[in-house]
Amino acid sequence: MSAAQLKYREEPMAEIIDGRAVAKQVEAETKAQVDAMIAAGKPRPGLAVILVGNDPASEVYVGRKIKKCAEVGIRSFEHRMPADTSEPELLALIATLNEDPEIHGILCQVPLPKHIDTGLVLRAIAPSKDVDGFHPVNVGRLSTGTGGIIPCTPLGVMKLLDTVIDDLTGLDVVVIGKSNIVGKPIAMLMLEREATVTVTHIHTEKLADLCRQADVIIAAAGAPRLVRGYWVKPGAVIIDVGINRMKGEDGKTHIVGDVAFDEVQHAKAVTPVPGGVGPMTIACLLANTVQAAREQIDGTSSDGFDIDWDDLPDRSMFTSESAGA
Ligand code: GUN
Repeated sequence: MSAAQLKYREEPMAEIIDGRAVAKQVEAETKAQVDAMIAAGKPRPGLAVILVGNDPASEVYVGRKIKKCAEVGIRSFEHRMPADTSEPELLALIATLNEDPEIHGILCQVPLPKHIDTGLVLRAIAPSKDVDGFHPVNVGRLSTGTGGIIPCTPLGVMKLLDTVIDDLTGLDVVVIGKSNIVGKPIAMLMLEREATVTVTHIHTEKLADLCRQADVIIAAAGAPRLVRGYWVKPGAVIIDVGINRMKGEDGKTHIVGDVAFDEVQHAKAVTPVPGGVGPMTIACLLANTVQAAREQIDGTSSDGFDIDWDDLPDRSMFTSESAGA
């Protein structure tokens, strides 16, 4: 064993953030909200899940989503379409679901078959029913701190962080990965909490040095065991969003995160893979569906970007006094 490995063994063990337990809590809260809506005589939240083709991984994910809906009392409507479904056929289904008052959330599982324009399809979902938070209207709302639906994995990451950090104000956060569905939304959520955020990517130089200064590391690069022990300062908090399938020495496929989990035990807290961020994603989808249903039923949702510009949290675009805020 090398001296470096020995050192990590001697450090105190990091707190393991139990994503399964936190997801259970989120699901219980979501179920309580559904029960309260029903008790108040409101309609039951409904989620439409569209699966085009028969990608095996997507079949598993969709099956899990449908099962979890039932557990919290959300009605689910599964729409399975053959792999040769045309783009106009899929858009026609979405248009129908957009108008259906029993449907409060629409999720079109990706990846879609190659002949279908994924961006076009995701933009066709009404922003008020876009429980993935992928529509540009929801992205714009998140970037301006004006509500909307937050993508499920970033929302799950924030909920996990909230279990170990009281206040993110002023903390140095490094986000590894700049994807539209994880890295960028997480950066926006961190800015909202007044953290100092560095978003890094494949061309970032001295990534290890940047990480070593961070109070919080969010690893969402899709690179197995990228974050090594010497990248992490003692007492940092690490959230591992990576889900990488790798063949082990035993010939079996294992799920590995973006963090060398065994090397980071000198951190304050770390999420395991599996059992960290993964379970949070579906729990947050359920929470988003209930949020969408509540806003549609109460008439507070909107499909446009008709925000009150006088009520923006950051007015630095308009007032010179706050220009540096
Ligand atoms: N495919 C894998 N994860 C997701 C997700 O969160 N939403 C959608 N729409 N498709 C996915």
